[in-house]
Amino acid sequence: MKNFLFLLILLFSCGPQERISKEAFDDVQRNNDVRRITEVEILREAMVWGDSITQEAQAQLISQLQQAIAANGHSGAIDFCQVNALPILKSLETKHAVTLRRVSSRPGNPLDAPDAAETPLLDAYAYNVENNISSDPSIQKLEQGEVFLYTKPIVISNALCLSCHGDPKKDIAPETAAKLKQRYPQDPATGYALEDLRGMWSLRLPKKEVVKRL
Ligand code: HEC
Repeated sequence: MKNFLFLLILLFSCGPQERISKEAFDDVQRNNDVRRITEVEILREAMVWGDSITQEAQAQLISQLQQAIAANGHSGAIDFCQVNALPILKSLETKHAVTLRRVSSRPGNPLDAPDAAETPLLDAYAYNVENNISSDPSIQKLEQGEVFLYTKPIVISNALCLSCHGDPKKDIAPETAAKLKQRYPQDPATGYALEDLRGMWSLRLPKKEVVKRL
């Protein structure tokens, strides 16, 4: 009804009035557009975007890790993980205007310890893996709904991961195991088996960045 009235005003106005009315009309249209985006659509988009950024991050880490292993062997690739993993994530943060981390309850790198918002999610994923319940990515609202926290489990999925995170006696070359122990004296993050939970992706998406995509 409001729009209808507006149209009438537009139709019967003329001269400079017309321009002003047209601007006002566009304004109303824009407001309507904003209102038409529902919370459900925003959450759905946050999920799609979260999946896509974490897949991009995972693909970059794995391909660069494989190159580092091919060039320098596993023990050489530890340097790559220590020096390059965080900068790769940082560059994706800048590219997408988000905050991206990998967190673990047994972090090799102390910077990868979970914060207060992440801990219960990581615990829930750990519970699910231990009880053979499959876990989907999740979205939580933080900061009065202005930020979405997207999380996704990171599972030890193949022999590549085991070659540094597996059983030091069976899966990891002695030289590599020794170097991991030396580099990460608190916890070398070894002793994992296939399908174990290694950690999770933690991605903070500002709501306004999500809305821009709709
Ligand atoms: C060449 C050895 C190597 C391989 C192969 C490897 N990682 Fe890692 N990973 C590391 C090191 C070293 C760190 C600690 C990085 C740092 O210092 O920031 C790490 C860190 C991580 C972290 C962050 C938590 C933490 O401990 O700081 C996750 C999650 C992880 N790796 C998962 C995986 C998965 C999944 C695979 C298989 C796809 C894999 N890694 C393969 C060496 C490796």
